[in-house]
Amino acid sequence: MLCNKNTVLVGKKILLVPYQIEHVAKYHNWMENEELRALTASEPLKLEQEYEMQQKWQMDEDKLTFIIIAREGDTFIPDTVNPTDPRVSSLPMVGDVNIFLSGTPLSVSESTRSPASDNGQEFTAEAEIMIAEPLYRRRGYAQEALRLMFQYATGYPAEYFVHHPRTEEPQGEEARHVCVKMPHSIPPSSLITRISDKNFPSIKLFEQLGFRITKHVEVFEEVEMRWNAHS
Ligand SMILES: CC(C)(COP(=O)(O)OP(=O)(O)OC[C@H]1O[C@@H](n2cnc3c(N)ncnc32)[C@H](O)[C@@H]1OP(=O)(O)O)[C@@H](O)C(=O)NCCC(=O)NCCS
Repeated sequence: MLCNKNTVLVGKKILLVPYQIEHVAKYHNWMENEELRALTASEPLKLEQEYEMQQKWQMDEDKLTFIIIAREGDTFIPDTVNPTDPRVSSLPMVGDVNIFLSGTPLSVSESTRSPASDNGQEFTAEAEIMIAEPLYRRRGYAQEALRLMFQYATGYPAEYFVHHPRTEEPQGEEARHVCVKMPHSIPPSSLITRISDKNFPSIKLFEQLGFRITKHVEVFEEVEMRWNAHS
């Protein structure tokens, strides 16, 4: 998306930076791993196609993509920093996090209502995450990356994305606390994810963020999870 072309989201353990040309070779290398492709339901692409995808995702209005960078060492990183800053670009990329939008979004003011658009097509924001480098798993990176991404996309504070979420819209100080957010925020109730029904680590991860299984599509061996669903 163009809106996050120069956005860096600064967390405690990780940074989220826009997917740029210099990330493509390593990303392509990750996606040559068959197991990772299966876990993320991805198709194999040639390197040239991967470069085309990077360009496309940067422009697409329905795909929000960030690369996850591990904050190693004790280099000071300010809250506002450019993606090309050497303090950022010298750190290792370890995965990616995406949101794919489909349907017509409601305005934020209507976010507490059922997320169905005018033409009846439900608006959804499908989240995907990958910590590609096994060495960097089980450090809380995926959890922090998703919370930062959800905060950016919804304008709700990261603290709302927990096992038992609060649902009332953040007010006053709490609302002002979210400084970097997407220009057209999406309602948190539109957040979903689709995961292989055997991917227990990922199912647990999303449960910790307040998602619940709402559908089991046996033919695809897949579950659908929704944020703050009441099952
Ligand atoms: C699933 C994945 C994203 C988790 O990333 P991670 O950075 O290791 O996860 P975190 O350290 O943030 O873990 C958060 C929670 O997820 C769950 N979890 C993560 N990995 C787990 C594992 N191997 N076994 C059981 N639970 C696990 C736990 O509940 C964990 O909380 P805890 O550490 O307090 O127990 C990572 O293993 C991965 O990228 N796998 C391959 C791609 C994939 O499956 N993507 C998901 C498709 S949407």
